[in-house]
Amino acid sequence: MLVVIILSLISSTHASSFPIECPKCGNLDVPYPLSTGDNCGNFNYKLYCNNNSLEFPSAEGFYYQILSINPNENRLIISPPLIQNNTCQSSDLSLGGLRINETSPFNISSRNTVMLFNCSGTILLSPLNCSSTSPCRLFEERVKEGKGCQNTLCCSYLKDSSMTSRHIRVRIGGCSAYTSVVAMKSGDSIDDWQFGIELQWLPPTEIVHFKIDRVLGIIP
Ligand SMILES: *[C@@H]1O[C@H](CO)[C@@H](O)[C@H](O)[C@H]1NC(C)=O
Ligand SMILES: *[C@@H]1O[C@H](CO)[C@@H](O)[C@H](O)[C@H]1NC(C)=O
Ligand SMILES: *[C@@H]1O[C@H](CO)[C@@H](O)[C@H](O)[C@H]1NC(C)=O
Ligand SMILES: *[C@@H]1O[C@H](CO)[C@@H](O)[C@H](O)[C@H]1NC(C)=O
Ligand SMILES: *[C@@H]1O[C@H](CO)[C@@H](O)[C@H](O)[C@H]1NC(C)=O
Ligand SMILES: *[C@@H]1O[C@H](CO)[C@@H](O)[C@H](O)[C@H]1NC(C)=O
Repeated sequence: MLVVIILSLISSTHASSFPIECPKCGNLDVPYPLSTGDNCGNFNYKLYCNNNSLEFPSAEGFYYQILSINPNENRLIISPPLIQNNTCQSSDLSLGGLRINETSPFNISSRNTVMLFNCSGTILLSPLNCSSTSPCRLFEERVKEGKGCQNTLCCSYLKDSSMTSRHIRVRIGGCSAYTSVVAMKSGDSIDDWQFGIELQWLPPTEIVHFKIDRVLGIIP
């Protein structure tokens, strides 16, 4: 009589290729899945390491410097574009502002207070806060970079689901400059404002493979 013993060992492993973390860029770690090269990270999360500065590419091909990364919350903060000296124009104005590719796993988080400057009057028909108490007034009056925008119509809004989460729009004839503050709380002094645009990413869906090892033992 033959007794067949079948032992199955089921072990799970991560996708065929192990996640490889990219090297540091300047003084910033580049945690998985963020990617600065073909041999590390995940290619859907492509960033650029340019002269030790880590940069996020917009759909229009403008590169925004990354200031910090929080891998535990899948968030990173990019620098708002410069408002060029003595003008009220963001350096990405000719590209229409910040636009993130529709197919990208990144979006603009709801913790940003976005401020728009030098807006045309039609903006007053929008639900934005364009009142004299809007925080954008403080930027115009108190921040050196905002001087070029002084006495222009400005508005602010909290980025949320009612606004597209992949676009901050500026244009000639609309608003010509913008900035953003992350996690602004009412009552915060302007010195506490953390300038930046916070992005969030959807983590990759790792495929889990089940490896089945069978051990066949034949006992007489
Ligand atoms: C690289 O960055 C350094 C320091 O910020 C700067 O002095 C240098 O000009 C940059 N080089 C290039 C090629 O951009
Ligand atoms: C945006 O997405 C499209 C389609 O997925 C792709 O062809 C294009 O290269 C992307 N643009 C950038 C700047 O990544
Ligand atoms: C902007 O102004 C600063 C100091 O006020 C100066 O150092 C810089 O060169 C100026 N930049 C441009 C593009 O004019
Ligand atoms: C405001 O925007 C218009 C274009 O919409 C531009 O021509 C003008 O120079 C801007 N104002 C300032 C103060 O920069
Ligand atoms: C605009 O923002 C200020 C400061 O956050 C707030 O006090 C005010 O109520 C807001 N006004 C409108 C119309 O939302
Ligand atoms: C942005 O993406 C995150 C993660 O994918 C999602 O949880 C969040 O709701 C999105 N935010 C907005 C404003 O669409």
